[in-house]
Order: sequence, then structure tokens, then C-alpha cells
Amino acid sequence: RAGLKYFGAATDSPGQRERAGYEESYAQYDEIMWKSGEFGSTTPTNGQKWLFAEPAQGQFNFTEGDIVTSLARENGMYLRCHALVWHSQLAPWVESTEWTPEELTKVVVDHITNVMGHYKGQCYAWDVVNEALNEDGTYRESVFYNVLGEDYLKLAFETAAKVDPKAKLYYNDYNLEWPSAKTEGAQRIVKLLQDDDIRIDGVGLQAHLVAEDHPTLDQHIDAIKGFTKLGVEVALTELDIRLKTPATPENLELQKQAYKNVVGACVQVCGCIGVTIWDFYDPFSWVPFVFEGEGAALLWFEDFSKHPAYDGVVEAL
Ligand code: XIL
Repeated sequence: RAGLKYFGAATDSPGQRERAGYEESYAQYDEIMWKSGEFGSTTPTNGQKWLFAEPAQGQFNFTEGDIVTSLARENGMYLRCHALVWHSQLAPWVESTEWTPEELTKVVVDHITNVMGHYKGQCYAWDVVNEALNEDGTYRESVFYNVLGEDYLKLAFETAAKVDPKAKLYYNDYNLEWPSAKTEGAQRIVKLLQDDDIRIDGVGLQAHLVAEDHPTLDQHIDAIKGFTKLGVEVALTELDIRLKTPATPENLELQKQAYKNVVGACVQVCGCIGVTIWDFYDPFSWVPFVFEGEGAALLWFEDFSKHPAYDGVVEAL
């Protein structure tokens, strides 16, 4: 049966929020995040990443990740955990060493074993590998790919399956929300693992979309079905829909339609199980830091009023 298990918002621990100077907003922010009932799941936006979790080889630090995961537990929310093997926000020591394949294999196994082991039993799902693909569907250059080839994907999922047998294991990437060469590349990854009897349970569509140029409902449905027909579940894992700032009635209307399409597609396809927006409050969004001249990508404005897109999501659910 189609329909969602959860609708949630990712969040940073206080020390990792993007913008200083918002101390006065935190009480209202936390009320909406944890107490309002708006969100049934969460993801720590940064705290579980390699850079923070293993900043030096063999030195693990779960301080930031634990803040969000504990709040999720206390508030009875689903928890999506993010991300074990990724080329970005990687600790510098991993990239600055010349590894042999044997050495890097041990580095990856130790990282997954310790980080996933620490959160064992708490994560509904883990993003085991994040962003392994280029836009044309080929593999992205990274220390992992350069030293181990595509075997690093097998290694990561094989290890993860042993460490937390109950967590759903996901491949997660962006621009997988409409049919494309990259979408086919992600399907190839699913089959690569399945052909070797290595467990993969889901594909995460990050869904960092653009209001002024968004896919249609049918394109989203086609892309999602391309994965579910392989027998894996799908989730929208980092949804935000940026627009050219300032926000106007026109671009906010496009954004509303875009949110309605993508959430609606997930709701309508059996096997698309959940939606996570990448924070909910515009001032804490990563978008303006990375995409110049763009922003207002989430569902709550700076003054805590809601975007028209909030109603678009409600209409889709
Ligand atoms: C972003 C965070 O939101 C920022 O705070 C951080 O500075 C950079 O990373 N794809 C991912 C996420 O998988 O982890 C990224 O999150 C956004 C793109």
C-alpha cells in the first residue's frame, strides 16, 4: 500500500547550526522541531559524518551526533542516520595518506564498525554510501574509488550488514529524482550489490530541487518506480527546494507546486516510505552558503511563518 511511514526534518545540534546570531530563535525552533508533532522523524545533518565522528584515525567522537539521536529517541521519532562513506566532510587524514587497498579496507571497516556500532539498534536507516556518482552515471573520483574501485561499495554494504543487521542500508545521492543517466547509475549500484548477494534495502533521493525549474509529478513517479521495481525501498532524504531570492509570490507558488509534486510522487508510489526535509527553518538551511543568490528553500521563513509550500505538502499527504 502506498503512503508514508514518516515525514520528518533533519536538524543540527546547537553547536553545528549554520548561523550564529539566532540564539533568540532557538526556543521556538526547538518547540517546532521536537514538540509540535509536525515531524515524525529526524536526521543529524552533520554530527555523524566522518569529519566529526572519526577526526583522527581510531579516535571516535560521538558528542554532536548523540545530541540529535538522543532527542529523536526521547521524542519517539524515526531516526535516519547519515552518512558512513562519503568523499565530502571526510576527515583530512583519510585523504592525505597514500593507502594500499588492504590499508584502506581496514580504515573503512573500522570506521563503519565503530560508528554504526555506537548507534546500533537506534537507526531506522543508514546512508551507507553517499554521492558515489557523477552526473553522467560514472563513478565519482574519491579516495575510496581511486584505491578500491567499485569494490568499496561492496565492502561498505557488506560491513554495514554485519554491524547492524536491523538497520535499513541505503545508497543516497542527489539528482536521482527524475529519469537520467545518474538515475541509471544508481540502479546499477543496486544491482551490483544484489548480484553479489550483498544487502541493500533502499535508495535515498536527496531531493535538493530548484523551484523555478522543477520536474513534473510523472517524472518523479518514473524515477521512484525505477528503484522500487528492483525490490528496494525509496525515501526522499534531504528535501529542500531553493528559489532565487528574494522570495516573491510567483516563485513561492512554483515552490509550492514543486513540493506538492515530489512529496505527492512519494506518497503515490508503493515502496516510497518517507520524506525528510533538510531542516525546516530557512535561516538554518545550507542553501545560501552553497548556492549564491538562492535560498528560502524550506517550509518556515525567518519569522517562523510558513511558506505556501507547507500547504502544498499538506495537499500531497
Ligand atoms: C550539508 C549540511 O547541511 C551543511 O551544514 C554542511 O556544511 C555541508 O553538508 N548532501 C548531503 C548532506 O548528503 O550531508 C549535505 O549537508 C548536503 C548535500
